[in-house]
Amino acid sequence: AGPTVLERLAAHRLVPVVVLDDAKDADGLGSALVAGGLPVAEVTFRTAAAADAIRALRDRGDVLVGAGTVLTPDQVDAAVAAGADYVVSPGTSRAVVERCAEHGVLALPGAVTATEVQAALELGVTTVKFFPAGTSGGSKAIAALAAPFGGVRFVPTGGIGPANLDEYLALGCVAAVGGSWMVPRDLVRAGDLEAVRNLVADAVALATD
Ligand code: 3PG
Repeated sequence: AGPTVLERLAAHRLVPVVVLDDAKDADGLGSALVAGGLPVAEVTFRTAAAADAIRALRDRGDVLVGAGTVLTPDQVDAAVAAGADYVVSPGTSRAVVERCAEHGVLALPGAVTATEVQAALELGVTTVKFFPAGTSGGSKAIAALAAPFGGVRFVPTGGIGPANLDEYLALGCVAAVGGSWMVPRDLVRAGDLEAVRNLVADAVALATD
C-alpha cells in the first residue's frame, strides 16, 4: 500500500486553503501549486464553485485535493462525489465525521480545547484541525494540549503566515500547517498564476528550511 492521505499531507507539511470563485480557475491554480512544489489544495465550500473546482483539480491527477469548510453530511457527499481525498471542518461535528467514515475518507475536524479534542477522540479522530489557530492560543496552546493528548496530531490553520510558520512547524505534534497566504483569493481570481506560484514556492522554501 502507498502512503495514506494523512502521510502525504504530513510529507508536504503545508496545506493551501483556497476559496475559488470560479471552477474555471481550478486548473490554473493546480498548475501553480505543482510548479511551486506544493501539489496540495483544500478547496473550501464557501463558494458554489467548490465541488466543480475539486473535480477539476482531482481530474488533473497530480494534486492532493481536500474539501474545506464542510459543515454538513450533504457537503461530505458532494465532496466525495467530486473526488475529494479528505474532508476538513472548522469544528467537530459527529454527523460529518460519521459520514466521512461511511465513505472511507479522512476527516480533519476542528478542535482547539481539551473538551473538543476529547470529543474528536470519541469519534475515532486522532488528527484535528486547530482552527482558528492564531486566536485560539497559537503554538503555545497546541504544545499545552499535546501534553495530555500524546497521540493527537494537529493541523493548525488560521492566522498563520511566513512570519509565524516556524513556531508551528517546530512542534512534533503538528502534522501540517494550513493557510491561505500562499493562494490569495484575489490573485487566483485574477489569474496571476506566476504570483501564486512564487508565493507557493516561498512557502515551500520556508517549510523546508
Ligand atoms: C481556513 O478555512 O482554514 C482559514 O480560512 C484559513 O485561514 P487563513 O486565511 O488565516 O490562512
